[in-house]
Amino acid sequence: MAQKFARSRLAVGLMSGTSLDAVDAALVRLAGAAEAPRVRLVAFASVRYPPNVRQRILRVAEGKAVPVGEISQLNFLLGELFAEAVFGVCRQAGVSLERLSVIGSHGQTVFHQGFATREGGRNIRSSLQIAEPAVIAERTGVPVVANFRTRDLAAGGQGAPLVPLVDYLLFKDQKMGTVTLNLGGIANVTVIPAGASPKKVLGFDTGPGNMVMDSLVRHFTRGRRTYDTGGRMARRGKVLEDRLNEALRVPFFRQAPPKSAGREQFGEEFVRRFFLGRKRERAEDLLRTANELTARTVTGALRSLTLPGASLGRMIVSGGGAHNRLLLGRIKELLPELEVTLSDIFGIPADAKEAIAFAILADRTLRGLPGNLPAVTGARRAVVLGSICQP
Ligand SMILES: Nc1ncnc2c1ncn2[C@@H]1O[C@H](COP(=O)(O)OP(=O)(O)OP(=O)(O)O)[C@@H](O)[C@H]1O
Ligand SMILES: [Mg+2]
Repeated sequence: MAQKFARSRLAVGLMSGTSLDAVDAALVRLAGAAEAPRVRLVAFASVRYPPNVRQRILRVAEGKAVPVGEISQLNFLLGELFAEAVFGVCRQAGVSLERLSVIGSHGQTVFHQGFATREGGRNIRSSLQIAEPAVIAERTGVPVVANFRTRDLAAGGQGAPLVPLVDYLLFKDQKMGTVTLNLGGIANVTVIPAGASPKKVLGFDTGPGNMVMDSLVRHFTRGRRTYDTGGRMARRGKVLEDRLNEALRVPFFRQAPPKSAGREQFGEEFVRRFFLGRKRERAEDLLRTANELTARTVTGALRSLTLPGASLGRMIVSGGGAHNRLLLGRIKELLPELEVTLSDIFGIPADAKEAIAFAILADRTLRGLPGNLPAVTGARRAVVLGSICQP
């Protein structure tokens, strides 16, 4: 068995994050031992959600009162869209579906509650990802691993973040301490001290990545634009210090890890509370402030929670926000001691990293290997993640 899996194999990872922008599909070739896999990206495709589908997901993800039938329909509709993303990435690479060993589908998060609440005398945390894996398996004829977060939650973890193990496998270094930063809708970091064992790895969400900025851009352009390309609009504005300082006082930023966040913390309600819905300010100034909020919370978290003693040398950035030059510039200014680069120089394009991660995690699940890091999620133990849908 182990022999069979150690051979080179093709896998697809599917991811759509909190930005609700697109389904990302990464076709990768995996080879080598589980502890040090060799990963090569063969093709990457990003299939945008049709605007009406995005709108429907957003309603659910923002906690609006929607009939359960709507969630059920969306689950199956997204299953079809995720399967189509697999067709797209395989067509692009000229790879037939029969050659795939596994598809790892993160699905679309519509609810995430990483902190426990008391329910009937019990501590309950939960997370719900939709995009029905049975549909993906039926359309593609490939084994599908999905629902990665639930097993970690069941084991007492936050169910997030799950990419830190992959960061560890891909970027650990004997001599140099490394931070990886992913700037999706939410921003998260993985801290890997030089020569660290998995137990010494830290990883957590720092707060908003692009989520607040995107929301402001949609608001001010009436949906014509979905993000601030390169941070150009923000560059024309100035930081509104009062608003920034008020937003920085949100308790999440001071909490010690493990911690994870989503639209529940930094969605429309947060934007209305701290940015809109009172004295009108210039759009550019609000955007600049939101940009600075991301830069300050990412770097602030690293300074206060992890940097002391970790002797870090470099930061490897990924996620769509890596294209925001203003944001990246500010992060570099605030962390002058780190060498900041994009994950692209390691053969992992910034836009593809999270999708690649779920191909790797699915491959581990098929081999019966754990995919969470208990030190990161807070789980009682390392567990094999996901449910498997046979083809
Ligand atoms: N050229 C660009 N300039 C500025 N921002 C960009 C650019 N391209 C993409 N982005 C930002 O990246 C976002 C999408 O990033 P990504 O797909 O990594 O996030 P995600 O879907 O939320 O995933 P996750 O939360 O899991 O990391 C867009 O919504 C936008 O804010
Ligand atoms: Mg995305």
